[in-house]
Amino acid sequence: MTNTHQTLTVDLGDRSYPIYIGSGLLRQPQLLAPHISGKQILVVTNTTVAALYLDTLVAGLESLQIEGLQLDRLVLEDGEEHKHLDTVSLVFDHLLQQRHNRTTTLIALGGGVIGDMTGFAAAAYQRGVNFIQVPTTLLSQVDSSVGGKTGVNHPLGKNMIGAFHQPQCVLIDTQSLATLPARELSAGLAEVIKYGLIADAPFFEWLTLNIEQLKQLEPALISQAIYRSCACKAGIVADDEREQGRRALLNFGHTFGHAVETQMGYGRWLHGEAVGAGMAMAADLSHRLGWIDRPTVQRITRLLEASGLPLWGPETMTASDYLQHMQVDKKVTDGTIRLILLEQLGAAVVTSEFSLELLHQTLNHQPVC
Ligand code: NAD
Ligand code: GLY
Repeated sequence: MTNTHQTLTVDLGDRSYPIYIGSGLLRQPQLLAPHISGKQILVVTNTTVAALYLDTLVAGLESLQIEGLQLDRLVLEDGEEHKHLDTVSLVFDHLLQQRHNRTTTLIALGGGVIGDMTGFAAAAYQRGVNFIQVPTTLLSQVDSSVGGKTGVNHPLGKNMIGAFHQPQCVLIDTQSLATLPARELSAGLAEVIKYGLIADAPFFEWLTLNIEQLKQLEPALISQAIYRSCACKAGIVADDEREQGRRALLNFGHTFGHAVETQMGYGRWLHGEAVGAGMAMAADLSHRLGWIDRPTVQRITRLLEASGLPLWGPETMTASDYLQHMQVDKKVTDGTIRLILLEQLGAAVVTSEFSLELLHQTLNHQPVC
């Protein structure tokens, strides 16, 4: 087994932290050691991931031989439908029952659902304790584990309750993707493609050329895709941690996508699938506005399709369904919907400068004249 890995830094001054990326890193617990300051750890995971990776992580942490270590674990139900405040309460119950103090470290082992909930619990427990992200889905490795957004869903809106709370480090073991179902891999590819579309046209080209090998998890290529995605996100987060400006670009496709997830019921459409459809819809509106041409829209939809992603929201959703949910999006200010749209492939903007008539045409999936 090779011990090589790559390290990126999310540069946030004295809260900067490393992202370790490599194959087999779950078996390299020494990478985590400098990021554990106290004598208590709670590993939070779910039933699916526990069966696959919990023993390896726990054995690794035990092998660090931290004197007097209290190592607890909590296995939650699996699924987006469990990403709510009651589940986070179970984490607080466990922490209090096991008498975890302010020096405890929470470790999130799993996909974005576990990462978002564990991070939120860490942000709130005793007004904030340390946490570490060990993401095991492609989506969480390229997006949700980096940048410190944590939180839960509310029946009326996706990710509406949360906090910014940065991890101490992110440990990405690319080998864990081997057990990921194909549908989840596609969902993760949506967020990878997002970086190409909003900020990195050459990366988009590279993805187009390599999509089949990426779906086969060709090791060098998948590592490269994760590294480049994390580098893009780390740069944006370092510039605008609290989403006062540029960070909003990371929500490309999400306003449409969150509407789909909320309307259909959390978990029916995977987050990445909804984002994939949302990106196609945002590209469509960008075209209607005359910002990108039709061949560019086709290049985008071809890559989404090749990645196994849906190219539109559910047939059953009407324009008024979308608009109702889009009104509670976090980017809405003074009742005005703001969207991320493409000025060109590789360059996105946050804007409210679009006619509602054109938005309706997109939502109604009307043919472009
Ligand atoms: P998820 O956490 O539900 O994981 C998807 C499925 O894969 C689950 O069933 C999970 O148990 C399973 N799984 C995880 N790792 C596995 C592995 N290695 N092998 C086999 N199965 C595995 O979903 P996700 O796509 O990882 O994350 C989606 C969530 O992330 C959404 O709630 C979304 O809102 C959130 N998100 C947050 C941010 C952020 O910045 N905080 C960014 C993007 C998305
Ligand atoms: N996924 C959006 C963000 O982290 O800002």
